[in-house]
Amino acid sequence: MAGTGSWWGAVCGGLALLGGGCGGGGEQELSELAQRGRVTYVSLCIACHNADPNEDGSLGPAIAGASRALLEAKVLRGEYPPGYVPKRDSNAMPPFPHLAGEIDALHAYLAEVERK
Ligand code: HEC
Repeated sequence: MAGTGSWWGAVCGGLALLGGGCGGGGEQELSELAQRGRVTYVSLCIACHNADPNEDGSLGPAIAGASRALLEAKVLRGEYPPGYVPKRDSNAMPPFPHLAGEIDALHAYLAEVERK
């Protein structure tokens, strides 16, 4: 019984590293930009928003599919784009002005994980 099993193991391991893999997982394929956005989301936003952006969090509402204009206004300045009706009328979220360079990545992440 020479090891075809280990041969397959090596192939599957290699593909998994490339983001493919041999079935299982259930992780969505995210673009590189969205993966960067996810890092920011997971480290800063899930304190209040849900780990799944399609669901409401402990404090913050669901934000999957948020527009770039909304993210820029709310995350950087704590404001809303003109004419936008906020999901909550609280004002509990602090602005994160240092994320100016991450808005595109956050936008990509929130767009790609949105359940349609
Ligand atoms: C301290 C808790 C907290 C953190 C951290 C936080 N949020 Fe929020 N967020 C809220 C709350 C609460 C609201 C509802 C409006 C308010 O109270 O400011 C909100 C609202 C929003 C909205 C507007 C939703 C809508 O459609 O009205 C967006 C977009 C948003 N957050 C994105 C983010 C992103 C992106 C991050 C991470 C960079 C983040 N938030 C981090 C608490 C938080």
